[in-house]
Amino acid sequence: MSYRIPFNRPCLAGNEYKYIADAIANGHASGDGPFTRRCHEFLERELKAPRALLTTSCTHALEMAALLLECGPEDEVIVPSFTFVSTANAFALRGARLVFADVRPDTLNLDERLVESLITPRTKAIVVVHYAGVPCEMDTILAIAARRGVRVVEDNAHALFARYKGSYTGTLGCLAAQSFHETKNFTCGEGGALMVNDPEFVERALVIREKGTDRSRFFRGEVDKYTWVGLGSSYLPSDLLAAFLLAQFEARETVQEKRRRIWHRYYESLSGWAESNDVRMPVIPADCEQAYHMFYLLLPSREDRDALISLLKSESILSVFHYTPLHLSAAAKKYAAHSSSCPVTEDVSERLLRLPFYTDLSRDEQEHVTSTVMRFRFRSSIRQAS
Ligand SMILES: Cc1ncc(COP(=O)(O)O)c(C=O)c1O
Repeated sequence: MSYRIPFNRPCLAGNEYKYIADAIANGHASGDGPFTRRCHEFLERELKAPRALLTTSCTHALEMAALLLECGPEDEVIVPSFTFVSTANAFALRGARLVFADVRPDTLNLDERLVESLITPRTKAIVVVHYAGVPCEMDTILAIAARRGVRVVEDNAHALFARYKGSYTGTLGCLAAQSFHETKNFTCGEGGALMVNDPEFVERALVIREKGTDRSRFFRGEVDKYTWVGLGSSYLPSDLLAAFLLAQFEARETVQEKRRRIWHRYYESLSGWAESNDVRMPVIPADCEQAYHMFYLLLPSREDRDALISLLKSESILSVFHYTPLHLSAAAKKYAAHSSSCPVTEDVSERLLRLPFYTDLSRDEQEHVTSTVMRFRFRSSIRQAS
């Protein structure tokens, strides 16, 4: 079914087709060509990061992180329950046991106050997710991790260009994963990047990304042929995708400015309505700059959330919800270290609704969304009136 206002719409920044044509003319369509190099340089320069490596997805960047940390069946990895499956699945694939943590009720980020109590002698890593492009409380998490000898990996899928106390997210953990999936601020359809912030991992990351071979050393002239040297897979994207992505990166300022305006228009037009109807809006801590990735509402009840999705659908507007709690999933029964109690995750996953959000969402489209939202009749008030 197609919607007048879809939840997401791929948006062109300008030079995508030209760059893809250039990539073909260059005669280099496979991975690690000139456009991939330019994407790496862009990420390293803009984020002030030591090393960026494009990958085929954020999921694959997380899998690379699990391989680099040598996670195995003896290890536990702490992950938020309120996240996309890849955050957890990447580590379960290596045999690690997952420890699910609850999230903070305000930002819906991993609750840093719970982390220390979840660490055991088996804990290898804490994976943080900067939910909705709003940074986690990193000082506390990094201090606990350093004290307890545990690595921190950032799932930065939502948060490219967010800042925590002035530093970009994606540069704070030893490794970080970016997503360029079509729903993200910058996209090539499916894509990602691994940020290698600890230089100790660079050489092995290059091997893992290149099917377990030392091909990158061969290209640097350091060996006369490349061979199989360790575990790896095919994690590098085609230069055609990198060409598309570079065009999006080059429009960084315009894209982020458009998304900033959309986010604030939602916030300002809905805040009075939200306050008088017990609807919670996103919370951005004072020391954080968000990435303007999404706009969500927390409705008073699941009934209200589902009824608002239906009302929007009747106006041909697609709104969606996520995530179903990972600690309650069928896979958690197999891959969790033990059962967990995550009451905040369970509560918000029933009440959260995401409004349409894409870079070219027009003012008229957005007004149609907000006016429809504001004529919603809450189930709770219907109950009170009857
Ligand atoms: C928090 C989070 N992590 C990881 C992913 C996976 O990203 P990708 O589709 O690039 O593999 C997503 C996807 O939306 C996500 O929301």
